[in-house]
Amino acid sequence: MDAREMKVKAAQAALQYVEDGMRLGIGTGSTAEEFVRLLAEKVADGLKVEGVPTSERTARLCLELGVPLKSLDELPQLDLTIDGADELDAALTLIKGGGGALLREKIVASASTQMIVIADETKVVETLGRFPLPIEVNPFGLSSTRIAIDRLAERLGLSGELKLRRSSEDVFTTDGGHYILDAFFGRIPDAEALAVQLNSIPGVVEHGLFINIASFAIIAGPAGARTLKAN
Ligand code: A5P
Repeated sequence: MDAREMKVKAAQAALQYVEDGMRLGIGTGSTAEEFVRLLAEKVADGLKVEGVPTSERTARLCLELGVPLKSLDELPQLDLTIDGADELDAALTLIKGGGGALLREKIVASASTQMIVIADETKVVETLGRFPLPIEVNPFGLSSTRIAIDRLAERLGLSGELKLRRSSEDVFTTDGGHYILDAFFGRIPDAEALAVQLNSIPGVVEHGLFINIASFAIIAGPAGARTLKAN
């Protein structure tokens, strides 16, 4: 089974949790896009749902495939969000934001009664941090914010480059007009301490650590999909 097939398997398994009439948060990334394609088929067959997309990219795909959309202000409380992840551990702490949508993803997932993570088994790790942690920052004061993040990392015994994300020649800009610093820490032994301290830096808009947000994960491997609950 190749990587794409595993993503489809996870997305198919997640679709079973979608019920008629649900208000859905719809994630961003290649795995979430497989989910959108399958959801669109169900909608074409008569399933009634309303979706809130977590990015402009996801919104475009939903519109193209005929998945009905609302804004989060129109549907401020959602039943279920289905989204991918860049890494997850046994406590279901996630790193997200590889696709740059972490802020809207976190707002949407937090507005949902349940969040199901869909991923292939390569995303499950013992200790988070091999995937660079995306930190969304305000463009104003970028250098000062970078210094503040470096200092807090040092206090927490973390080290690694903070790289300003680029898309070809330009600085990458999120849907909210912010920049992303990718933190190459390698290992994040205490995600909670890091999350709390990042949130205390004024120039940090949000970070990609999702703690106590996911309800469970559907992990696909060559043998099929399994459910992962927090330990
Ligand atoms: C988007 O910002 C991310 O949080 C994605 O959910 C994450 O990067 C997973 O993407 P893939 O499914 O493409 O690996």
